[in-house]
Amino acid sequence: MTSPPPSLSATSESPVCHRVLVGITGASGAIYGQAVLEILADLQSVETHLVITAAGRRTIAHELDMPLRRLETLADAVHDVRDIGAPPASGSFPLHGMIVAPCSVHTLAAIACCQADNLLLRAADVCLKERRPLVLMLRETPLHLGHIRAMAAVTEMGGIVFPPVPAFYDRPRTLADIVRASALRALRLLGLTDVAAGIRPWCGRP
Ligand SMILES: Cc1cc2nc3c(=O)[nH]c(=O)nc-3n(C[C@H](O)[C@H](O)[C@H](O)COP(=O)(O)O)c2cc1C
Repeated sequence: MTSPPPSLSATSESPVCHRVLVGITGASGAIYGQAVLEILADLQSVETHLVITAAGRRTIAHELDMPLRRLETLADAVHDVRDIGAPPASGSFPLHGMIVAPCSVHTLAAIACCQADNLLLRAADVCLKERRPLVLMLRETPLHLGHIRAMAAVTEMGGIVFPPVPAFYDRPRTLADIVRASALRALRLLGLTDVAAGIRPWCGRP
């Protein structure tokens, strides 16, 4: 782990008011995790923590132009997914919320079963028990009933399942536009007001 501050270090130069945990799993779509980290890195008010599963490391290497080391520098602190004693494993650690981008079916199902045998899963379980926002950018299609039941279970527990589905009325021109729009909308669900300001609302007919 890269030295996470124990408490929010708000100063006049750095008015940190939210601490957010970003999880990256082995679903396709590591680029969503990259977009989320890039958006949060631009927000002075957010302190970003990052945890990546073993499968997530593999998809990052396969899908991103950015090497893992560079991706990790977008976060303020990086935690080893095997470190189930890291700060986000405890409800006493003041975390605003957590986003998993992208979220695999494996991780969704584990959260639905309250399975918490790695740091990402434990932190997600903690978010739910502490009634903190948990947003899962689930990437899988088509869906069988087991997937849908797992989504229902997590939703009943208070989590938000957010499959990154593009909004074409925004007239996205590039892949980056599509990914960023989904990342912004998912982050807005965490209740980060600075993020909401970056979303262009639909104003009726074009
Ligand atoms: C290239 C690649 C793409 C994958 N895409 C998906 C996917 O889109 N959705 C998914 O649920 N799993 C996908 N998987 C499978 C997961 O990586 C696998 O289930 C893994 O165990 C997930 O572990 P994690 O949840 O701990 O990251 C993919 C695997 C690879 C190698």
